[in-house]
Amino acid sequence: VGSHVPSRVLTNHDLERIVATTHEWIVTRTGMRERRIAAAHEATSDLAVAAGRRALEAAGVQPADLDMIIVATITPDYPFPNTACLVQRQLGADRAFCMGLEAACSGFLYGMETARCYIAAGMAQTALVIGAEKMSAVLDWTDRSTCVLFGDGAGAAVLRPAPAGRRGIISSVFGSDGTLSELLMIPAGGSRRPATAETVAAREHCLRMRGREVFRHAVTHMAEAAVAALHKAGLSIADIRWVIPHQANLRIIAAIGERLRCPASRFIVNVEKYGNTSAASIGLALDEAVRDGRIVDGDLVLMVAFGAGFTWGATVMEWTG
Ligand code: ACO
Repeated sequence: VGSHVPSRVLTNHDLERIVATTHEWIVTRTGMRERRIAAAHEATSDLAVAAGRRALEAAGVQPADLDMIIVATITPDYPFPNTACLVQRQLGADRAFCMGLEAACSGFLYGMETARCYIAAGMAQTALVIGAEKMSAVLDWTDRSTCVLFGDGAGAAVLRPAPAGRRGIISSVFGSDGTLSELLMIPAGGSRRPATAETVAAREHCLRMRGREVFRHAVTHMAEAAVAALHKAGLSIADIRWVIPHQANLRIIAAIGERLRCPASRFIVNVEKYGNTSAASIGLALDEAVRDGRIVDGDLVLMVAFGAGFTWGATVMEWTG
């Protein structure tokens, strides 16, 4: 695994100078204290490449060994070509086939599952999965209800078949509900409402969210997906060493902990440092916990995500490293 965040830190106090908000409001409602913001010249693929390089180094894999690259993002460099192709170019992974994946905050888990299926089907041996976002590029910096919540970053993982006798990815469950798409979206800039002077003036190319409704669905679906993935694995929450939830809001994470009857001490949480980095969030938290020695070889890890679409999913794995 590997990760990367831009060096510029934007604190809650900095945000007080941009919109009508307070450090106290943001900490109490979300648990966030600061987030990272990419430089004007840095695009999502740049963050993705840095995270991908670290993951390749950690795995002892060369770019030329990669059969596939998936980049999950809702902030691609361009509408097309897909960001994975841009990552391939920078890495020099010329044997890999490359695809983008759009599942918002569930992107990293959807990407891992897609790679797992290709590997299980014998169509790839070595896959690089990256969740990367430059959320700062799609935020409405006049909307205090959304701009304080998100940050930029990237998380990456190299996937290979599990060694003999090891379980690797044990179970996963995924779901979506397209009937609720309008609760969290970017209304313009796609084929339904192509960018015009009017859509840009109305900031319709920025993220819009009905936060309270999203909150409710996020808790319900993440808790249910976690229970379903555990059931499918034949495990109980007591067997799980670490839970890595999507880092959307500390209150959402606490509510999931209550529903799963899992103490906060077994959750990997870094939302206070990075805010919601969407598709990057679980990969970023996984990398941090592996590198600081919390997650060790043999640990059972439950990852659970929810995002725009809506999309959601949960994966149980035995960490091998
Ligand atoms: N500073 C100060 N006040 C604010 C701010 C702010 N930054 N933002 C909103 N408020 C105000 C509102 O205007 C409202 O005021 P009012 O009562 O006078 O109308 C009040 O605070 C309460 O607003 P709520 O929206 O009810 O606040 P809530 O407690 O629900 O918290 C939040 C808002 C943090 C957005 C929460 O709803 C949330 O986290 N939702 C889920 C977000 C999420 O999980 N997203 C995940 C998916 S993201 C993806 O897929 C890309």
